[in-house]
Amino acid sequence: MDNLEKIVSAALEQFSRIHGAAELEQAKARFLGKAGALSDLLKGLGKLPAEERREAGSRINAAKDRLEAALAERREALARAQLDARLAQEAVDVTLPGRGAGRGRLHPLTRTQDRIEAIFRSIGFDIADGPEIETDWYNFTALNNPENHPARSMQDTFYVDQKDASGRPLLLRTHTSPMQVRYARMHEPPLKVIAPGRTYRVDSDATHSPMFHQVEGLWVDEDISFADLKGVYTDFLRRFFETEELEVRFRPSFFPFTEPSVEIDMAFGAGPNQNQWLEISGAGQVHPAVIRNFGLDPEQYIGFAFGSGIERLAMLRYGIHDLRLFYDGDLRFLQQFP
Ligand code: PHE
Repeated sequence: MDNLEKIVSAALEQFSRIHGAAELEQAKARFLGKAGALSDLLKGLGKLPAEERREAGSRINAAKDRLEAALAERREALARAQLDARLAQEAVDVTLPGRGAGRGRLHPLTRTQDRIEAIFRSIGFDIADGPEIETDWYNFTALNNPENHPARSMQDTFYVDQKDASGRPLLLRTHTSPMQVRYARMHEPPLKVIAPGRTYRVDSDATHSPMFHQVEGLWVDEDISFADLKGVYTDFLRRFFETEELEVRFRPSFFPFTEPSVEIDMAFGAGPNQNQWLEISGAGQVHPAVIRNFGLDPEQYIGFAFGSGIERLAMLRYGIHDLRLFYDGDLRFLQQFP
């Protein structure tokens, strides 16, 4: 019994030094548990003479109560300290400057497309939109590009698992030219329309991307000539680039759906890089077989069409050398176009 006070003070001292809840429960077991120091004393009571037993028992119980009270107090103190630490850690410093929501802006390609639409609208062209997943017929066959014709390999594409009504696989359109056919079959001539949108090819380098944008142009009337195509297109370029001094060349080329066909190149570059040519458009007089697929008589109607790369136009306008920059989503690049 002599060491009861020693046990109590040792326990109190240990409790006060403990900082973790689990550690505290271990200390409790050491003093108050079944095999703890106080239990040992209680077990020893039986050996005491009866007259001492009662008093000793109540002293031990009082000591037990003190330790329980001390434990409860320590538990509470530890919980409070833990909460304080968490609050301090999670505190919001209302004096910090805010992060703010950055002001968005239109992508340079969207701006370019808007600009193209505004120019053509101002000279009486309609704007049409069509599907990016096309049938083989609209993308190739209707454009005088028969099955197994080698010219199809000029435009390798991505096929979709689904098939169209005639059992041929659907594909991602390789150009906006199918819109010539779709539009002409739904409208009465004279037709003046542009159709901007996404196109896809198996192609990837600094000037080609598997997904890119084109704008198709179609003009169908009874008495127009190649000079009208040249006039409209050159005027468009002058207004797009805001200069009369443009070097444009119409170079003979081949497309199955136009005859004659040209490719339109523009000079660009400055200093040592002067006078490089970049192809920006295919164009030509719509082939009689395609006019027939429009549902029109090629003896009565003549058509001119062009298909221009929107990325190419944007690259020339802004002086960008790698078209992949348009798709990287790098704000340092995109923010340069206010
Ligand atoms: N569709 C052709 C291409 O993508 C371009 C083109 C359009 C050529 C219209 C002639 C007439 O290469």
